[in-house]
Amino acid sequence: MKLLVVGSGGREHALAWRLAQSPRVHKVFVAPGNGGTAREPGLENLAITDLAELADFADREQVAFTVVGPEAPLAAGIVDLFRERGLRIFGPTRAAAQLESSKDFAKAFMKRHAIPTAEYETFTQADAAHAYVERRGAPIVIKADGLAAGKGVVVAETLEQAHAAIDSMLVDNRMGSAGARVVIEDFLAGEEASFIVMVDGRNVLALASSQDHKRLLDSDAGPNTGGMGAYSPAPVVTPEIHAKVLREIIMPTVNGMARDGIPFSGFLYAGLMIDDAGQPRTLEFNCRMGDPETQPIMARIKSDLASVFELAIDGRLDEAQIDWDRRTALGVVIAAGGYPDDPRKGDVISGLPADGNPPDAECLVFHAGTVEQDGRTLTSGGRVLCVTGLGDSVKIAQGLAYKRIDAIRFDGMQFRSDIGYRAIARKR
Ligand code: AMP
Ligand code: GLY
Repeated sequence: MKLLVVGSGGREHALAWRLAQSPRVHKVFVAPGNGGTAREPGLENLAITDLAELADFADREQVAFTVVGPEAPLAAGIVDLFRERGLRIFGPTRAAAQLESSKDFAKAFMKRHAIPTAEYETFTQADAAHAYVERRGAPIVIKADGLAAGKGVVVAETLEQAHAAIDSMLVDNRMGSAGARVVIEDFLAGEEASFIVMVDGRNVLALASSQDHKRLLDSDAGPNTGGMGAYSPAPVVTPEIHAKVLREIIMPTVNGMARDGIPFSGFLYAGLMIDDAGQPRTLEFNCRMGDPETQPIMARIKSDLASVFELAIDGRLDEAQIDWDRRTALGVVIAAGGYPDDPRKGDVISGLPADGNPPDAECLVFHAGTVEQDGRTLTSGGRVLCVTGLGDSVKIAQGLAYKRIDAIRFDGMQFRSDIGYRAIARKR
């Protein structure tokens, strides 16, 4: 069968690569894809981004099902459109995707269903927001309501920073309409983890735990980014915490969405803060897989992934199971110079594998912001590559990834040298 993956990042490269290994899959189209999906056997890039044209293509080519990587097409209603046309697709409807596309929707939902999260209030008027932060004190967190590509959250350590963030969003409109409404919530301390499950409207299949590094620089310093590296499993998610997250966060969310009349299907990603006592709270929901968390997660899947998606689309996830490689997978993102503010483009990358990633390689090179041009691979975006090692310990996986990176070169490249340090400190 033929499949379609929508998106162009490292997440989509990893998803499509793993899907292409399913015995019944003979082609995975990636729309629009990148320089890595262009050279991967079994994958074919498709220069289409318009949603209606994608539906026409899926229809014409008899694509068995479509998987959507990023949030933007989900929030724009790609799942509603495909379903109206009788096309099989895995992802949430536009209404269900509000769990990610509106922080206010997500917070009100969590409050209504008693799902652990930080106390908050929502504001459209700067005066009231300023008064609220004066009352609550710092540290405090200011979030633009709408999608802001990871730039809509300010963790204010002082009241001054909080007031400035409020003015920037509500008075100066720096975030446009995404910031016309802000959620202000209490600061939570602890360690973060990404908890991602597949949902078919009713049943849940948990993926392996993972953790990403959002800050640009070593020791989690510098500005927030989309993610500079990730690994799976995340030792902070002990079996007890895993059970607690399913019981207190994931199941109430899935049941609550169904009860509210907007059943959720697709990947549900709960960004968690786990405190010292082992209590998880939800920082955010995403209605898609994480990037770069997907890269180590896909590296560890041993099952036929296409069959899992088919069961999910059929509402039969209770029959699905995933066999995981017991090793740790650790991915290091290589970003372009100037990332995250103003990434440079068009630099030639050397040292890449000649063709794609073999299924059983112990180091995988997933592409994100790259393009193929005249047989060369050039940078074309902020996060360029995610080099993912698989090893019997976090340390070994880390060593494999960094050794592979030694051979890769492009002008301005930047990457962190400490991905996985929290897990290594836990001496797993
Ligand atoms: P979000 O997009 O809501 O996940 O926020 C981005 C990042 O901001 C998170 O990964 C956290 O590192 C941080 N963050 C968000 N909300 C809070 C909070 N309530 N307390 C502490 N840190 C937070
Ligand atoms: N790595 C964080 C995210 O995908 O939202």
